[in-house]
Amino acid sequence: MFFYLRDNFIVAFFSFIHHNESMIRKDKAFTVIVVLEILFIIAASLGIWIVYTNNNIQTSYYVIEDDLIPEGFDGFKIAHVSDLHNKDWKDRLCDLIEKEKPDIIAITGDIVDSSDVYYDISLQFIEKALNIAPVYFVTGNHESYMQDYKSLQKKMSDAGVILIDDKSVLIKKGDCYINLIGLQDPSFTQKSAFLDNSGSILREKIVSLKEDDLYNVLLSHRPEYMDYYADAGVNLVLSGHAHGGQIILPFIGGLIAPGQGFFPEYTQGVHTKENTNMVISRGLGDSYLPRVNNMPELVIITLKSL
Ligand SMILES: [Fe+2]
Repeated sequence: MFFYLRDNFIVAFFSFIHHNESMIRKDKAFTVIVVLEILFIIAASLGIWIVYTNNNIQTSYYVIEDDLIPEGFDGFKIAHVSDLHNKDWKDRLCDLIEKEKPDIIAITGDIVDSSDVYYDISLQFIEKALNIAPVYFVTGNHESYMQDYKSLQKKMSDAGVILIDDKSVLIKKGDCYINLIGLQDPSFTQKSAFLDNSGSILREKIVSLKEDDLYNVLLSHRPEYMDYYADAGVNLVLSGHAHGGQIILPFIGGLIAPGQGFFPEYTQGVHTKENTNMVISRGLGDSYLPRVNNMPELVIITLKSL
């Protein structure tokens, strides 16, 4: 009898242990499956968000007020296009611009991407844009990387684009004028020749193109030279280049930008230093790195006279 009870107890004990082990194994397998499912849902949602945000355009509106803006330019609207990088928006970009009825379209460089041999897409955009408003253009670093920028330059000029690399033009409205200045991207020249440590070469170049009695608007691809633009005393700068910091981290901002490194200061929006406002576009295309949580952006600036 004793042996019978002992054997039954041992069998019951080991079957209990075995049952528990198999339950633990089942629990572990279930947990792993749930974790994998959650990771898959997060990855799929992020993927959908990246595809959606890379293929839609956000229009951002800024009003720039200044008592130096002449009355005739009150309500003057600038459509600011930057860093298209040859991205083919079909008619979507021009439709958005047309809807805003801008007085001018300002392009601040990198309309092409150096990794693309062809630039037909950029030219098609330019041709459509010219039907909406006068187009002013300055170069970015990617134009300087092209084998044959001269041929693109000629095609844009022949089409009617006003190329203002290292030039200034007066814009007239009624009896009033503003001065529009353009800077060629420094990668066309030796950077050291363009900028000395104090930025005096750049500052002098801008000052030589300024009109002291007028409201001066500068088109320049690179936002990281804000201190020099402010030193030169321009009133408004339109810039791009930083692509919004490429990856926009929630509550932190852009992750990286050329010329500024990690956690850059100048990636989007309006920045003010002394009497200079700078509007930075996140751009409308991308180059080597993908954009994450960073929708391409058309910027509409309205001038307001005080
Ligand atoms: Fe760019």
